[in-house]
Amino acid sequence: MRRAGRIVADVLALMEEELKAGVTTLHLDSLAEEYIRKSGARPSFKGYKGYPVSICVSIDDEVVHGIPSMRVIEEGQVVSIDVGAIWQGYHGDGARTFFVGTPPADTARLIDTTRLSLLAGIAAAVPGASVEDISGAVEDVAVEGRCDIVRPYVGHGIGTRMHEDLQVPNYRQGRRGAELAVGVCMAIEPMLALGSADVETLEDGWTVRTKDHSLAAHFEHTIAVTENGPEILTKA
Ligand code: MF3
Ligand code: CO
Repeated sequence: MRRAGRIVADVLALMEEELKAGVTTLHLDSLAEEYIRKSGARPSFKGYKGYPVSICVSIDDEVVHGIPSMRVIEEGQVVSIDVGAIWQGYHGDGARTFFVGTPPADTARLIDTTRLSLLAGIAAAVPGASVEDISGAVEDVAVEGRCDIVRPYVGHGIGTRMHEDLQVPNYRQGRRGAELAVGVCMAIEPMLALGSADVETLEDGWTVRTKDHSLAAHFEHTIAVTENGPEILTKA
């Protein structure tokens, strides 16, 4: 899983380098797929429930699962990129949100808050804690940053399957969740919106967008709970 996570992290770094006004989202997808395959891995999203390509690129009011196409990236866009790779049967899953250019203050707050909520959630993933501790840590940072939490999508267990049974909500459930034992691996992935986080899925069957068209951001890491605390497997 470390190796799968490393590949995902490398692809996200490559995406950051290649993301600029004028490139198509499908070009980013091709670069990502090529890098994953050259690394001896496979893109886990391709073919997943019929998903046609290797990464997700979600722009502005799109939250997650945007399908790469001939759409051209423009200056001033909020671009969330989600990458998954399988190496020797083990999965890595990670996402980051970028801004094309220099973000206005409220957009910077959205992106920073989402990133920091993920880091807070990860910090809570220590042996003996529970999923509720992660959820609460994410929620507190989101609320403090005045962002709304997208609730229908949650983080997940990950290992030899991309989605394993464990669910990791980005808000408190009001009850102590599953205990975090050493060796548990999960993807934590807060999705926040600047306005209302009510979402809808587009006619393409995949793209999830905010109903009020407010901007959204998404950060995700695959982590392992170790005796020394959380280890980020998709760290840049
Ligand atoms: N990375 C997403 C997740 O964490 C999965 C992307 S959906 C896919 O659940 F269809 F693109 F694979
Ligand atoms: Co995920």
